[in-house]
Order: sequence, then structure tokens, then C-alpha cells
Amino acid sequence: MLITTSAPAKVILFGEHFVVKGVPAIVSAIKFRATVRLKPSGRECIRIASKQMGGDALCGDKIIKGKDELKPYFNIVEKWGVKGGVDIEIDSNIPVGAGLGSSAATSVALAGALVYSKLKSFDHKKIYELAMVGERAFHGNPSGVDPLVSLKGGMLIFRNRKDYDRIEARMPDDIRLVLVDTGVKRKTRDAVEKVLMRYERHYDIMKHVYEAAESLVMEAKKALEKGDYVNVGELMMINQGLLNSIGVSFPEAEKIIDLAVKAGALGAKITGAGLGGMVLILSEEYRIKKIIHALENYGGVQAFEVSMDPIGVRLEH
Ligand code: PMV
Repeated sequence: MLITTSAPAKVILFGEHFVVKGVPAIVSAIKFRATVRLKPSGRECIRIASKQMGGDALCGDKIIKGKDELKPYFNIVEKWGVKGGVDIEIDSNIPVGAGLGSSAATSVALAGALVYSKLKSFDHKKIYELAMVGERAFHGNPSGVDPLVSLKGGMLIFRNRKDYDRIEARMPDDIRLVLVDTGVKRKTRDAVEKVLMRYERHYDIMKHVYEAAESLVMEAKKALEKGDYVNVGELMMINQGLLNSIGVSFPEAEKIIDLAVKAGALGAKITGAGLGGMVLILSEEYRIKKIIHALENYGGVQAFEVSMDPIGVRLEH
């Protein structure tokens, strides 16, 4: 039976990194998707092909045609007890390595297809556990926020996999979220390691920074629920200051944030692991043109609007 599933990307609005030490993060699914097609093949091998990354195949234990980036997806399939006889195609419009949870969305869509093929339903607990096999292979010891929001869709406040809640944000019609690609590539794992080292080295200071992050996230939740977007913007700026203090800001992001705010944005911050990747800007609609213009003058950066996706993993057909 041919099964096609998809799952959304995400942006972290507040609390990235702090969430690794148990502070809640606020995260939203966004309208970019990874799609997985699963079909029986009659071959001994598991074959995984990605439109974006190329193809690969696994027979027995060894990867025949090397693409290390696909290995975590093999881990997921094998964890589900499938040894061969399947053909998997991955297609995604989520930018890779940009902090938008592209690997998590692919892992969730793949886990969803595997679970659905056997149980004929989406068992969220099983999908999440399987997707985490891929996430651990990609990122070491991730908080698990990415696959959870990709699974559930919408906006969540997440402390850990067992302690999370939906946020019903009241987004006024004229408020927009814009993502700007700094063009700087980075690995989540490196940024997380850097932050944890600083946390250990300066614990007496850092514990206060993490406490501040917790208060900030709780304030942000209230502001989102009230639709108080002036406050949300200000809280984004404070969050950016905290990200700076834990060592994950970088010059290109600082420049973009400065330009956006000078052009009238309500707030801006790094989203995701930092040291590269995306900047998230919050603005009233009528100021967007001016902001984009300022960024274009700065040169070469790509900016695009994003909107919340209420739908998590789903069956396509
Ligand atoms: O690069 P991203 O968006 O996948 O960022 C990961 C978020 C961190 O909080 C930095 C790490 C984690 O595991 O939550």
C-alpha cells in the first residue's frame, strides 16, 4: 500500500536553548512541509531517496551509496522493525540547517507513515518516540520540542515531552511574522554544546539568566493570548538579549535585528540554535515594505513571511 504523509516545520518564538535545561519554550508550526511517500518494493533493501539530498539504500547493515544525512532516517525505519522491502521518498520545501526543524518534520512524517502503514491510525505516542530516534541521531540530546510541534501543529508552550500545552494566540489581522535567512550555516549540536559549556563554567551567573528566561516565556504566553503584540515584540528583544548573553548571537543577526527595529519592527530575535540560521521579525503589516527595503539595501538576505500551521502530521493520500 502506498502511503503519503506530511508534517510541518516550526519556529521557536521564545525560549530556545533555555528549554534544554527545563525552561519552557514557545514554538509554532509554520506552513512549510516535509512529505514522505512509503511504498512496498519487493527488494531486500530499505531504499530512501530525498529529492533535496539524493538517494541511498541500505541492505543488511551497510549503506550502499553514501549520504550520512539520511542515516538517521534509516535508524527510524529499522527501529520500527522494518528490515527491507520498502521504498521511501522524501520531498520537502523546508530550508535545511536554518533552524526551522526540517529534520524533525521529516522524521515525524516518516514515523507517521510507518506507524500508519501498520496500525491504520496515527498513534501520536509511537510516532513521537520513533521521530526522536532520528532527532537524537541528528542532534545528540535534543529537548524534543521540534518533533512535538511538528506532530501536533499549532502553537505550544513546551517544557518537556510530558509537560506541554496549546497556546491560543490572538493574532491581530495586521500583524506579520517575517523570517530572514542570515545565510550563515551552523549545526544545532555545536551551538547547544557551546551554551552548555558556558552554563557550567558560569553557573552562578547563568542560573539567573535562565530564571529570567522562565519569567520572560510566561509573560510572552500571556501577551500572545491577549493579542498584545507590542509587548510580544518587546519580549522578543529581551529574549534576544538573553541569547546574546549565552553566546549564540552573531554579527549578521545583530545587524539584521538592528535594521529591522530601526525600520519600525515591533521586535526581532534569532530563532533556533543561533550562531547562524534565521532571524524572526514581528511587525505591523504596513511597515513590512520598509523593513524589507532596509534589509535589501544591506544586501543579499532573503526574507519571507510565515504563518502558523494549525495542522500537524497528516495523511496526504
Ligand atoms: O536549530 P533548531 O531550531 O532546531 O534549534 C534547536 C533548539 C534548541 O533549543 C537550541 C535545542 C533543543 O534541543 O531544543
